Amino acid sequence: MESSPLELPVDAVRRITAELKCHPTDERVALRLDEEDKLKHFRDCFYIPKMRDLPSIDPSLVNKDENAIYLLGNSLGLQPKMVRTYLEEELEKWAKMGAYGHDVGKRPWIIGDESIVGLMKDIVGAHEKEIVLMNALTVNLHLLLLSFFKPTPRRHKILLESKSFPSDHYAIESQIRLHGLDVEKSMRMIKPRQGEETLRMEDILKVIEEEGDSIAVILFSGVQFYTGQFFDIPAITKAGQAKGCFVGFDLAHAVGNVELHLHDWGVDFACWCSYKYLNSGAGGLAGAFVHEKHAHTIKPALVGWFGHELSTRFKMDNKLQLIPGANGFRISNPPILLVCPLHASLELFQQATMTALRRKSILLTGYLEYMLKQYHSKENTGNKEPLVNIITPSRVEDRGCQLTLTFSVSRKGVFEELEKRGVVCDKREPDGIRVAPVPLYNSFHDVYKFVRLLTAILDSTEASQVF
Ligand SMILES: Cc1ncc(COP(=O)(O)O)c(C=O)c1O
Repeated sequence: MESSPLELPVDAVRRITAELKCHPTDERVALRLDEEDKLKHFRDCFYIPKMRDLPSIDPSLVNKDENAIYLLGNSLGLQPKMVRTYLEEELEKWAKMGAYGHDVGKRPWIIGDESIVGLMKDIVGAHEKEIVLMNALTVNLHLLLLSFFKPTPRRHKILLESKSFPSDHYAIESQIRLHGLDVEKSMRMIKPRQGEETLRMEDILKVIEEEGDSIAVILFSGVQFYTGQFFDIPAITKAGQAKGCFVGFDLAHAVGNVELHLHDWGVDFACWCSYKYLNSGAGGLAGAFVHEKHAHTIKPALVGWFGHELSTRFKMDNKLQLIPGANGFRISNPPILLVCPLHASLELFQQATMTALRRKSILLTGYLEYMLKQYHSKENTGNKEPLVNIITPSRVEDRGCQLTLTFSVSRKGVFEELEKRGVVCDKREPDGIRVAPVPLYNSFHDVYKFVRLLTAILDSTEASQVF
C-alpha cells in the first residue's frame, strides 16, 4: 500500500516546521501531520468518548462537548461503529429463526469463530489453520501450557520475565504446581539489571544459553505491559529452540500494535486477548496460535466437542476425530455475540493493513516522544523540574505505540489532573503512566493536546501544591 521510504518523526517535524515557518511545538505541525495522514478516515469508524460522559472530568476545566483525549487503546480499545449493526444482525436472526441461525447468514453460529478467523491471519502473521479464536487469554494460556509444558526431571523450568503480567505469573505458578513441582526451583524469572527498567536482549539470550537445557518452556510477552518494551520474538524463539525449549508468547500488548510473523518466526505457540488494540470490547474473544509443525504431534490435554471434525461432530458416536492443530484445542461452541464486535474491528484492520498502521504508529509515537522531550527532558530544559522520564525503549524496533512515563513529582497528582481534563490514560504500579496513541483512531492533534495539558499541569503552581 505504502511505498515511499519511512520518514522519521523528527524529520517530519523538521520538514513541516520549515514549510510553515513555525516552531516544532506549534499546533499547526500536529494539524499538518493529521492532514497528511492517509489513515485519518478510520477515526470516523469509531465512537470517540465525549468529555461530558467521562466520570472523572472537572466541568470547569473542559469543554463538555469536545472529544476526550483517549490514549488508552493499550487497555481497552474504542468501539467500532459497526459493532452494534453486527450484533443486531445476530440478535435479529435469533429472534426470527431461533436455532436455524446456527447454519445460515453471514456468520452461521456453528462456525462463528471460523467465519472471521481469516481476518486475523495477517495481524499475527500465521496461516488460518494455525489460529483459533476462543475463550479468554489466560484460559488459552493454560490450555497451551497443558500441552507444551511436559516437564522431566532434567528439563522442568519455565522461563519468564520477573515483571510478567500477574495473570501469566499465576498461570505459570499453578501449572508448575499441577505437575507436583517446586515453584522456587522450576519458575525461572529474569530481571532487568539493577537500576534499569527494561530487559537487555543479551541478558535474555545468556540465560537461555546457560540454562536452556533445564528449561521446558520459555514464555515471554511480545510487548511488555508496563514498560512497552517490544521483545525480539524471532531471536528469543531461535535461541530457545536451539536449546530444545518450546517458546511461546503472550501477545496481549503486541497484537494489532506491532507487525507479527508468528509462522515465519517459527514460534511454537502464542495467545492474545482482543479487547486492547483489537477493539472487541471488555472480555472479548481471545486468540491462540499453534505452529503447523506441531499439528500432528502436540495434542490438546483437555478436549471438548468443538475439537472434533465438523463433518462427523454431530454423529454423536463419542469416537473422537480430533482436528489437527490449533482448532483441536477448541472445547465449546463459539460465542456469537463476542464474534460480532471482533468482526467489526478486524474488518477495519484488513482495510488499513498492519504495515500501514505500524508506519503511522512509528510517526505518532515518535511525535509524542519528540514533544515530551521538547518540554520535559533533561537535555532540553537544563534539568529544570518537573521532569518526565520515558522508560519505554527509544529504538523504534524495541517498542510499539505505548510510552510509559515516570515523573520527578508525584505520579498520583499528575494522573488526577490529567483525568480532570479529559485525558484517558492509565497508571500502573510502581510509578508509571501509560500513554498509547493508537494509529487506527488517534490523531496527531490528540498527542499535541495531551502534551500541552501535561505541560500546563506540571507547570502550574496550583498543581504543584497537589504534588
Ligand atoms: C499481558 C497480559 N496478559 C494477560 C492478561 C489477562 O487477560 P485475561 O483477563 O483476558 O485473561 C492481560 C490483561 O490485561 C495482559 O495485559
